[in-house]
Amino acid sequence: MAKETTSFLICPPDYYGVEYEINPWMCRIIKPISGLAEQQWASLYTTLQGLDVTLEQIPPVSGLPDMVFTANAGLVVGKQFISSRFRFEVRQSETPHHQKWFQDRRYQIITPPTDIYFEGEGDALWVGETLFVGCGIRTDRSAQPWLTKVLDRPVITLELVDPRFYHLDTCFCPLDDQRVLYYPSAFSTAAQGLIQSKIPRPIPMKEEDAVVFGANAIVVNKHIVLNGGSAALTKTLIDEGFDVHSLDFREFIKAGGSAKCLILRLT
Ligand code: ARG
Repeated sequence: MAKETTSFLICPPDYYGVEYEINPWMCRIIKPISGLAEQQWASLYTTLQGLDVTLEQIPPVSGLPDMVFTANAGLVVGKQFISSRFRFEVRQSETPHHQKWFQDRRYQIITPPTDIYFEGEGDALWVGETLFVGCGIRTDRSAQPWLTKVLDRPVITLELVDPRFYHLDTCFCPLDDQRVLYYPSAFSTAAQGLIQSKIPRPIPMKEEDAVVFGANAIVVNKHIVLNGGSAALTKTLIDEGFDVHSLDFREFIKAGGSAKCLILRLT
């Protein structure tokens, strides 16, 4: 059978910046250097192209500095676009642009109920047929019954307890349907128990690797793209059979995001 091609939605960093503070990494006086951010984004682009990933772009919008983090637009399942409902007002204006992009491409748009916050793939990652959803900081726990109904697949919520790891994709990285790289202390005790019991091979990572966004990695078959900075983590990943592509995402970390936050899976 022919291998399905991987495609991602990305958004160029034309209007990227740190203009408000909604997570502990953001500080308005430590601005990203725009030329550098553009270079870092461009090297992600070329690296993914080299891995045969199809890249679709959504046009950036002035005044929406976090739109570059497309992982938070929503969650794509087949031809359904499950739109986000952002917790912070400053990001809510991204949603009409995301919905229009998917509507123009004939996706069915599904919107969360008005009383449920949901921040898309940033908080929702598949391990095999099970969707793991990070809750407690951005996404609400009540997203679980709603998503279970919408998807008709098992959905497990994992409570996040460390504000530095405010989205699931900052501390939990599925490597395939058996293995997940994760930072244990980012999760409640109950969530750690769920990870250990529901995932065939959880691989814990150290705090020093987590704080350089080691879990915020993009996995494409046997390749993994992530922020450089940890020799120990690189070795672990090589031992697990991956080709590791270490890039520099430090300008994006100033807003609390790295490699994985910059893409949304379309397939
Ligand atoms: N500044 C953005 C926010 O706080 C960063 C989003 C990072 N995205 C992610 N998927 N973790 O919302």
